[in-house]
Amino acid sequence: MPLCTSLTLYLLSLVFLGETRGDSGFAPLDGAPPSKIAVVGAGIGGTATAHFLRQHFGPEVRIDVFERKAVGGRLATVTVNQQDYESGGSIIHSLNLHMQDFVKQLGLKYRKSVAGKTAVFNGKEFILEETDWYLLDLFRLWWRYGISFIRLQMWVEEIMEKFMRIYKYQAHGYAFSSVEELLHSLGGTGFLNMTHRSLSESLLELGVSQRFIDEVIAPIMRVNYGQNISIPAFVGAVSLAGAQANLWAVEGGNKLVCSGLLKLAKANFIQAQVTTISLHLKGESHQYELSYTTQTDKVSDFYDIVVIATPLQQNVNSGISFQGFEPQLPDIAGFYHQTVASIVHGYMNCSYFGFPDPKLFPFASVLTTDTPGLFFNSAASACPVNITAGFRRKQPQEAGVYKVFSPKPLEKNELKTLFKSYYSVQVTDWQAYPHYGSTQELPPVTLHDSLYYLNGIEWAGSAMEMSSVAAKNIALLAYHRWNRQLEMIDQKDLMHKIKTEL
Ligand SMILES: Cc1cc2nc3c(=O)[nH]c(=O)nc-3n(C[C@H](O)[C@H](O)[C@H](O)COP(=O)(O)OP(=O)(O)OC[C@H]3O[C@@H](n4cnc5c(N)ncnc54)[C@H](O)[C@@H]3O)c2cc1C
Ligand SMILES: *[C@@H]1O[C@H](CO)[C@@H](O)[C@H](O)[C@H]1NC(C)=O
Ligand SMILES: *[C@@H]1O[C@H](CO)[C@@H](O)[C@H](O)[C@H]1NC(C)=O
Ligand SMILES: *[C@@H]1O[C@H](CO)[C@@H](O)[C@H](O)[C@H]1NC(C)=O
Ligand SMILES: *[C@@H]1O[C@H](CO)[C@@H](O)[C@H](O)[C@H]1NC(C)=O
Repeated sequence: MPLCTSLTLYLLSLVFLGETRGDSGFAPLDGAPPSKIAVVGAGIGGTATAHFLRQHFGPEVRIDVFERKAVGGRLATVTVNQQDYESGGSIIHSLNLHMQDFVKQLGLKYRKSVAGKTAVFNGKEFILEETDWYLLDLFRLWWRYGISFIRLQMWVEEIMEKFMRIYKYQAHGYAFSSVEELLHSLGGTGFLNMTHRSLSESLLELGVSQRFIDEVIAPIMRVNYGQNISIPAFVGAVSLAGAQANLWAVEGGNKLVCSGLLKLAKANFIQAQVTTISLHLKGESHQYELSYTTQTDKVSDFYDIVVIATPLQQNVNSGISFQGFEPQLPDIAGFYHQTVASIVHGYMNCSYFGFPDPKLFPFASVLTTDTPGLFFNSAASACPVNITAGFRRKQPQEAGVYKVFSPKPLEKNELKTLFKSYYSVQVTDWQAYPHYGSTQELPPVTLHDSLYYLNGIEWAGSAMEMSSVAAKNIALLAYHRWNRQLEMIDQKDLMHKIKTEL
């Protein structure tokens, strides 16, 4: 090759390299990376966002994470008898890959669930009882419900398989500008329709029997979301996946993931309530001013990018007001569903369940059917977040720690019905998850140019992993939008694209 040609090639390649670098490096209009990013909320959503933002924007940017209460948010523990118990989000599925990855990176340990039998109570008696015999259980299910449960299992598996595509898309750096775009890329219009259609309708169409829906599906929806079988099919499927085997939790408490991610992200933690986010023009672009109150001060500061990682629905009362946005930011529709977690230390009243002799009561968890007047959703013997080698569940004749979920705080007479006597009751009153059906809309992800909202994903499904998926998506979205790499956002036909990229 003559020298001049190779020199030309060399120069050409420099030009091209220069161009690609301009495309994929820190190059907004004025070429500068963001200097400050704010994340509001230090639950799993906010802390995972901080972590992914750090990964994508690099070590220079300052990341401030605001939290008005405790790191962890809806991942929280209460202490009974010097042991901690999960009062909020407790179980993690083995296919929740972001959560798994966090635990691995943070050097945390898995806490396996301790075996225990489950039964379904209809207010009068148990209608379904798990036994020691796997084959017998299978036979009973078959006898009672025909092939419903096989159809159901296949349906959930198919949805899970499609959902798992998100990890590939995210690993390749693709982002989505809305929850709709994200769902559509995973499962097409089928997934979108599942956010509108009711679970019961979808299952009936699938050929699952009404009896199976009432006796098996409804109790699972009640324990996971405190709601009935009218919830959308998509969140129903998320909930059913969480009712399969291979569940785990984090040794020491799930909230350890949140504090760990804050450290890993080298985020600047600010204990404060954000009160106002206002828009300010700065040359060609804008900045967001966050006003916040700490225990002692009222402060404000400017940010290039802001991520809100807490629900903005009215009845959750984030206390944030938006100013200077023209037109005004839309109100976020819908409301959250109340679920009360009572951690009770005492003696279960097995007579109430038809077992006068507690020694004969074989169940660790009681689920319930959707029966009018039934005052609790579930009651289960609870395991502490630290499980020692010799740990065993307490027998029903001994004093034990139980977790009861109910739609309202338990009245004294209700406690006296479920428990013969008790030493203590600790109540956590959650605005727990969306009240599905209170709006038909999926909330927006981009509220304004560089102002993002994480918790809209909960209206597709509310779970730790869903918040983590949304966190990764927002970090990617913010990064690509800042750098104007629009080809990485809302790409169609990703399955095909990714195959050819490899
Ligand atoms: C009882 C219960 C059981 C559950 N069970 C499971 C389960 O088994 N498995 C599962 O995967 N999921 C479960 N979930 C759901 C799961 O807990 C949530 O989906 C997840 O924790 C939501 O995390 P997040 O970070 O998005 O929101 P949050 O955890 O709510 O975090 C938002 C944070 O923002 C803070 N904040 C709000 N406003 C402001 C402000 N103005 N300024 C500063 N900070 C502010 C709040 O204090 C809060 O800490 C359960 C939830 C509940 C309540
Ligand atoms: C989703 O609903 C739309 C409109 O009702 C319909 O056209 C489409 O075929 C549905 N998708 C699937 C996969 O069922
Ligand atoms: C489920 O609950 C909602 C209220 O939250 C109610 O409107 C609906 O009729 C219930 N559905 C069933 C099947 O009971
Ligand atoms: C519980 O587990 C966590 C994580 O492994 C550990 O840091 C903590 O010290 C443990 N606490 C107790 C009381 O054993
Ligand atoms: C226990 O349940 C039985 C049967 O429902 C009820 O009669 C009794 O009042 C309950 N409470 C106690 C403390 O036994």
